[in-house]
Amino acid sequence: MNSYVNSVNFFGGNNPEELAEKYGTPLYVYNEDIIRKHMRAVAGVISKYPYTANYSIKANTNIHILKLALEEGINCDAMSPGEITMLLKAGFPTERIFFVPNNVSEEELEFAAKQGVNTGVITSLDSLSQLETFGKILPGHKCAVRINPGVGAGHHEKVVTAGKKTKFGIQESDIDQIFEIAKKYDLTIAGINQHIGSGFLDPEPYLKAVSNLLRIARRFENLEFIDFGGGYGIPYHKLNDEAEFPMESFKVALEPILDEFVKDYGRAPLFKSEPGRYCVAEGSVILGRVYATKENSGVSYVGTDIGMNVLVRPSMYGSWHDIEVLRNGSVVERKDLKPVTVTGNICESGDILCADRELPEMQKGDLVCLLDAGAYGYSMCSSYNSRPRPAEIMITSDGGVKLIRRRETIEDLMRLF
Ligand SMILES: Cc1ncc(COP(=O)(O)O)c(C=O)c1O
Repeated sequence: MNSYVNSVNFFGGNNPEELAEKYGTPLYVYNEDIIRKHMRAVAGVISKYPYTANYSIKANTNIHILKLALEEGINCDAMSPGEITMLLKAGFPTERIFFVPNNVSEEELEFAAKQGVNTGVITSLDSLSQLETFGKILPGHKCAVRINPGVGAGHHEKVVTAGKKTKFGIQESDIDQIFEIAKKYDLTIAGINQHIGSGFLDPEPYLKAVSNLLRIARRFENLEFIDFGGGYGIPYHKLNDEAEFPMESFKVALEPILDEFVKDYGRAPLFKSEPGRYCVAEGSVILGRVYATKENSGVSYVGTDIGMNVLVRPSMYGSWHDIEVLRNGSVVERKDLKPVTVTGNICESGDILCADRELPEMQKGDLVCLLDAGAYGYSMCSSYNSRPRPAEIMITSDGGVKLIRRRETIEDLMRLF
């Protein structure tokens, strides 16, 4: 593919150069239609049985994106009281929020339980130790437990969240202790959940983990819900025609696994999934400006304002983000490619967006358009080097442009002193 942004009309007829001049760079640009399309896809993963998709908001907590999830009828996962608060502010009722933290304080557990009028926000406990704490402070309450299904997968070892090398979940051999703690504190284990990792394109490990979780689920009586986690990947190498997560064949493969469980269990509980990346990643690009070019010991460097403070994934995980070059608002054709190392403006040698990447020649003043930045982009931003966080704008379904978060200012950075 020569250009993703052109192929999907990402800017909705707006000139990216004008957007960059008006809102400044670096700039997160979202596309409402693309995000809605992905949210609808995850909402349709299971149709035969009761099912809800929970958008895992750690991927992107912008309140305007949360409102899209609200409108699309999907529920949400929160990892912290801060994320619960964001969701309540976006208009989510407590029963549409699932709290899946790890290693939290009594105050945080109480915070979730005290929201709303009835049971509060349901929490999943990620260890026997946290289940014990929960029982002590909230006896008689309803909760869930996070199980490690023994299978992990993901785009990098740091995002594998199940299997033998992870801090997450309760291992199968400890399940009897869940029942003992629940009995001691009169807790109702209403649900079980898992999350095997993030960014896989092959559904096989996930399907295996689903089977494992359902085998384990048979040991729990009266489950109201079973949550299979998220993790569906997106094609970060789309300019090289990488295939998408095979959603349709995945759905077909999932159904008989669920059928067998429902038959044995005697009824269908509510099934859930909790994808984050899949919902939002492809719905955003970052526009950055080229401010310098240089040759250092045979390496061609292109210096931009997209530092690791704006997007940390490449320096943190070595992640790949496709790059398109824009000149005077148009995509520069991908021909006469030369290897370049594109860097940010942060004082760290690791502040690199890509090394020795074959890209069209770049000049000062060009725009770099970094693709697939909607997940774990802004939500992992920092103000490192005392650089204010960027603005976020959304191309709305009618082709309009909405500022959905203003750029931080240096005054904002000074506010806490
Ligand atoms: C418990 C839990 N749920 C959901 C997610 C979202 O994963 P993803 O964005 O890959 O779908 C994560 C990510 O690590 C997670 O740990």
